[in-house]
Amino acid sequence: MANLEKVKLGCARVPEATQIAEMSRRWIEHGLTWRYRRDQIARQIRDAETEVVVARDEGYVIGFGVMEFHFDACSAHLMLLAVEPASRRRGLGVALFRWLEKIARLAGVSRIGLELRADNEEARCFYERLGFRATDLRRGYYDGRLDAINMSMARRVGCGHDS
Ligand SMILES: CC(C)(COP(=O)(O)OP(=O)(O)OC[C@H]1O[C@@H](n2cnc3c(N)ncnc32)[C@H](O)[C@@H]1OP(=O)(O)O)[C@@H](O)C(=O)NCCC(=O)NCCS
Repeated sequence: MANLEKVKLGCARVPEATQIAEMSRRWIEHGLTWRYRRDQIARQIRDAETEVVVARDEGYVIGFGVMEFHFDACSAHLMLLAVEPASRRRGLGVALFRWLEKIARLAGVSRIGLELRADNEEARCFYERLGFRATDLRRGYYDGRLDAINMSMARRVGCGHDS
């Protein structure tokens, strides 16, 4: 279990893409086609309109989050977020999300959206605790066979869009 006092949050580096992709496969995409492989994560790390944050414990990645920004729509989409099982329920998930949210707000984003597996009750509780609300159900969203729930969080910030 990580010593949280030593855990540091920061922007992901391209050589960390392999660790992040493996975490996504194991904890987010399990049982589905593996889309967020090393090359895709490396592209996201390099992409100016995507932010990839990692939590590092003595240099080893123990959690990460990926958010894409859509500046024309003043919105952002949380693509991926995971914390290694041994370090859960200690505030790291919230810290990773807040890190991304802060950048989003500074960039003028007024709405953050995400989708998650409809059967992922734990993540749904986590996102509700952060202030997200379920908006709709998308049948067969994952690989044409698993349903997803869309969730979103909106705040009024000078951009003109708030829903
Ligand atoms: C969802 C996830 C990122 C949460 O990370 P975490 O570091 O454990 O979250 P936190 O410790 O910051 O939790 C904050 C609050 O969210 C809620 N929460 C978190 N995990 C929960 C769970 N398993 N069941 C119910 N509520 C939960 C609680 O209110 C918690 O506060 P508390 O511990 O004081 O009760 C983590 O469980 C995870 O990696 N899951 C697998 C990947 C995944 O499903 N990602 C989301 C879809 S992309």
